[in-house]
Amino acid sequence: MASTMTNIFGATSTTEEVLSGTDLRGKGILGLTTPFGFHSTATEVAAGVDLTGKRVIVTGGAAGIGIETVRTLALAGAEITLAVRRPDAARPVAEELRQATGNAALEVRPLDLSDLRSVQSFVDDWTGPLHILVNNAGIMAVPELEKTPQGFERQFGTNYLGHFALALGLHRALAAANGARVVSVSSIAHLFSPVIFDDLGFDFVPYTPFGAYGQSKSAAMLLSVGITRKWAEDGILSNSLNPGAIATGLQKHTGGLKTPVERRKTPEQGAATSVLLAASPLLEGISGRYFEDCNEAELLTKRPADLTGGYAAYALDTENADRLWDVSLQLVRGIGE
Ligand SMILES: NC(=O)c1ccc[n+]([C@@H]2O[C@H](COP(=O)([O-])OP(=O)(O)OC[C@H]3O[C@@H](n4cnc5c(N)ncnc54)[C@H](OP(=O)(O)O)[C@@H]3O)[C@@H](O)[C@H]2O)c1
Repeated sequence: MASTMTNIFGATSTTEEVLSGTDLRGKGILGLTTPFGFHSTATEVAAGVDLTGKRVIVTGGAAGIGIETVRTLALAGAEITLAVRRPDAARPVAEELRQATGNAALEVRPLDLSDLRSVQSFVDDWTGPLHILVNNAGIMAVPELEKTPQGFERQFGTNYLGHFALALGLHRALAAANGARVVSVSSIAHLFSPVIFDDLGFDFVPYTPFGAYGQSKSAAMLLSVGITRKWAEDGILSNSLNPGAIATGLQKHTGGLKTPVERRKTPEQGAATSVLLAASPLLEGISGRYFEDCNEAELLTKRPADLTGGYAAYALDTENADRLWDVSLQLVRGIGE
């Protein structure tokens, strides 16, 4: 069943190699290291990377980490769509980025990830190949249990299910790129909860803002594992990451960032791991794995009190990934198929 795939940089690996790496990593074996680390910026990671002719979507690309992700990929020459919930607010940001990078190929398109009808119309409008999809947009710690228009818990619906539907709807475009990458921006907060398959919507388990955020971020990691297992044959690779602690609009429900100052990152540092997974040749043939500070994270057996790093096995587990994929297909029935 091993077939050879060529990534967007022209390097080749076999599907079998990719899948066995994913499986081993789910068990805590292997661990990719790079010359980059906690303090590295997105610009440093992208040095020497040429994305001319590559088409990119960054969700939530007009705020926080997303802006720096777009800026860096634009400087590398990519054609980028900022997929945003508030296009009017995003247009001046895109214009500033065009001016700053000298790259005119930045466009804004509306996308509300919490509403599957919006995801459907975004994918309906997309034509041609897609080389890089950065699933970056997110919300955190919504104080009370809220539901999306289709009735899903809001953090699960926005952070995970909207991105699942988006990737599914763009599957053919990704396959057409011959070596596409999908990046899932997750969080250390995945350590707060696995995906609770028996109660995705908090109908029985008491809702907590970080329990729901944690579930959505575990699901985001499992999405990368699922994409690897379902689509590696199409040459599509996907990894997930924790960007670190960066003061952005994300903390609007929590009274600002509480992380000690010495452990915080700038937005430029926060975007570094996203850019590494999206565009670095160092990630050739790597898929279904989880990174932080530009390196693969360590497997944990217990959540550390200070949340310094690492990942839980449940968030890279291949059976969980297959189960979530099947459940999600049911939940988004009709999108992209
Ligand atoms: N900052 C951190 O410390 C940190 C730590 C771990 C993980 N992360 C993750 O990093 C990613 C980026 O976060 P950030 O820190 O850059 O936060 P941010 O500045 O708040 O940016 C989040 C982006 O997501 C967009 N978004 C929210 N709901 C959306 C929806 N329904 N449809 C489309 N877009 C939507 C926001 O749009 P609006 O501007 O319209 O709200 C915004 O552009 C998130 O996935 C977050 O969970 C961040």
